[in-house]
Amino acid sequence: VIDIRKLYANTGAFTFDPGFTSTASCESNITYIDGDEGVLLHRGYPIDQLAEKSSFMEVAYLLLNEELPSKAELENFTYTISRHTMLHEQLSTFYRGFRRDAHPMAIMCGVVGALSAFYHDSTDIADPHQRMIASHRLIAKMPTIAAMAYKYSIGQPFLYPRNDLSYTGNFLRMTFGVPAEEYVVDPVIEDAMDKIFILHADHEQNASTSTVRLAGSSGANPFACIAAGIACLWGPAHGGANEAALNMLREIGTPDRIPEYIARAKNKDDPFRLMGFGHRVYKNFDPRAKVLSKAAGEVLDKLGRNDPVLDTARELERIALSDPYFIDKKLYPNVDFYSGVILSAIGFPTTMFTVLFALARTVGWVAQWNEMISDPEQKIGRPRQLYTGPAKRDYVAVGNR
Ligand code: ACO
Repeated sequence: VIDIRKLYANTGAFTFDPGFTSTASCESNITYIDGDEGVLLHRGYPIDQLAEKSSFMEVAYLLLNEELPSKAELENFTYTISRHTMLHEQLSTFYRGFRRDAHPMAIMCGVVGALSAFYHDSTDIADPHQRMIASHRLIAKMPTIAAMAYKYSIGQPFLYPRNDLSYTGNFLRMTFGVPAEEYVVDPVIEDAMDKIFILHADHEQNASTSTVRLAGSSGANPFACIAAGIACLWGPAHGGANEAALNMLREIGTPDRIPEYIARAKNKDDPFRLMGFGHRVYKNFDPRAKVLSKAAGEVLDKLGRNDPVLDTARELERIALSDPYFIDKKLYPNVDFYSGVILSAIGFPTTMFTVLFALARTVGWVAQWNEMISDPEQKIGRPRQLYTGPAKRDYVAVGNR
């Protein structure tokens, strides 16, 4: 038997923390969360104020540059981002290598990783200016990449970016427009989409951001690091939950079937969980869910849509929040619970939901990556383990086993 005390005797303090529930992996001045109070601040600004009053470009600037931009700074930043929206033409060939029925997250993961093959020579990550260019490129190209993944999946031709449109307007046109037809951006949809982007922009050391930091800590190419973050985000316990939440709400169908699903969520022998409920950090309402709950009603009203899924969601929330199981475990709706209702009303298929999350979270990923690389004390991330395997033993030739 391995003597663990001896093995780790010279490592100083040694903690075993599966899932990193109580270990800070870094210092950061970007995002603050108080999970008990349901508070989320970016550089000190409350998320509800940012969602209500600012734009995604302002929030992107804030996360990257520590302060909100002046009018001139915002114009300059928006212009810079719009200058980088194009993809290398050869990347469209890359898309055609994917099966038609590929999940758009699989495509996004592959295409963003492939960007590292296009910008391999210009990314000197020790140079802050180069880092900023890589960050701008990523923020700018994600809408193009996401829209192309969608177009490819439905067999329509790709649309080039239109840089006279807003960041979000341009994305909507590339997604829902068709060649040779004028696409008029609906301000209600543009506003709702921009809000969703703001609400997903950053969330401190969640699984995908930690993945980006860990990948980046070895000095890896930033495009490859973001591809790693996208891969991590895809899982149903993380970014994939918005897709899973809407699928669940559709499966429930009508409010009278809710008790059946609540009972399943409480049954320890059933792996089913209420998707869009619970959070590692929030043990109170996720403040983003509050904003989205309100926005979902407004968007559906303004678009004149009456989606029964919203009624099911509201009733599920009401019933779950008065149930002792959910009260005791402090399980509240998270950001994924209502976002699907809005995205579906806008016209996105569920497979695109996590892609939109990745698009928005790219801003947080690059801000966190920049913060890490610019730290002079930065070290490669290298967690340890508690070894539980066999003690040392001698090799036995294959014929003698
Ligand atoms: N439905 C039913 N029970 C739940 C749920 C849920 N959605 N979430 C947690 N629980 C229960 C667990 O079974 C566990 O019960 P136990 O103490 O009796 O074993 C207890 O609550 C604690 O849950 P953990 O899984 O230990 O909590 P953790 O912090 O590890 O997980 C997570 C958080 C992954 C978000 C979890 O709540 C979950 O799976 N939720 C559904 C998926 C989801 O909505 N994910 C999106 C997260 S937000 C984001 O990524 C943007």
